[in-house]
Amino acid sequence: MRNILVTGSNGQLGNAIKKISSKLINYNFLFTDIEELDITSYEQIGKFIHKNKINIVINCAAYTAVDQAETDREKAFLINVTAVEYLSIQAKANNATLIHISTDYVFDGSSQIPYKETDLPDPKSYYGLTKYEAEQKIAQFAENAIIIRTSWLHSEYGHNFVKTMIRLGYERESLNIINDQFGSPTYAADLADTIIKLTQATIKGIIFYNYSNEGSCTWYEFAKAIMELKKINCVVNPITTEEYPTAAVRPKYSLLDKSKIKKELDIEIPFWKESLKTCLKNI
Ligand SMILES: NC(=O)c1ccc[n+]([C@@H]2O[C@H](COP(=O)([O-])OP(=O)(O)OC[C@H]3O[C@@H](n4cnc5c(N)ncnc54)[C@H](OP(=O)(O)O)[C@@H]3O)[C@@H](O)[C@H]2O)c1
Repeated sequence: MRNILVTGSNGQLGNAIKKISSKLINYNFLFTDIEELDITSYEQIGKFIHKNKINIVINCAAYTAVDQAETDREKAFLINVTAVEYLSIQAKANNATLIHISTDYVFDGSSQIPYKETDLPDPKSYYGLTKYEAEQKIAQFAENAIIIRTSWLHSEYGHNFVKTMIRLGYERESLNIINDQFGSPTYAADLADTIIKLTQATIKGIIFYNYSNEGSCTWYEFAKAIMELKKINCVVNPITTEEYPTAAVRPKYSLLDKSKIKKELDIEIPFWKESLKTCLKNI
């Protein structure tokens, strides 16, 4: 029986893990969010891990408001960097493995081929910078850890692009959506399944993996697929990044090369449109 702590479990990924956890045997999950365990408290983390004999910490907690992070820097740094340093130290002190989630936003987006785990990050947003600094803290302070970089997370839970498009699609006759940023959506349930597989592996050292759904699209193509599959009568118009200024700069291209995780875990990853259909059924 392994004791697994999931932090930030009221968020998208945390909820997706919660959903599949009920079907798993030989696991004792402890789901927490800020009320039960504030990851910015070094003492709270230490006590919790020690008292509950935690073997694996899955850190789903984060400051994820990408544009707001540009101005709310102190808070974004505290949750995304300082707290991850604390989790790394306390996991190591208690012989626990840390599984942490990072992002495609650590890359500058200038590539024309999918990013590998070994490509050098160069974040262009403050959020991306905090996530990159967290990776470095893990490398410095953790002993055994997995860092999974993922992209464009969506699910039936919380706030995300899919839910926003459905809401706006019903409210408006037309929407202008960016058509020159390329990436891949990731259904949180697919990522959660993969994280569970990773908990069964023996982890030594700091290991990076990329994970997203298969295939590529722009936000415009993603939005069009949502409207079509939901049969929402809203016209989606393609626009450029310049036509939709945001506080944070997003990568123009952030496809992730998933060959490493597919080979090592011997898994097939669903294509984004197939997983979008599943997500829409569950919303
Ligand atoms: N969303 C994406 O598109 C995306 C893309 C790539 C990577 N990621 C990464 O994937 C991971 C999961 O993302 P997600 O979309 O599931 O995030 P999410 O839905 O925003 O969930 C994060 C959770 O962490 C909680 N939290 C915030 N501060 C905390 C604290 N001090 N202690 C404990 N919990 C705290 C949040 O509570 P509040 O809501 O009350 O703040 C929320 O419940 C994150 O590391 C994120 O950076 C996300």
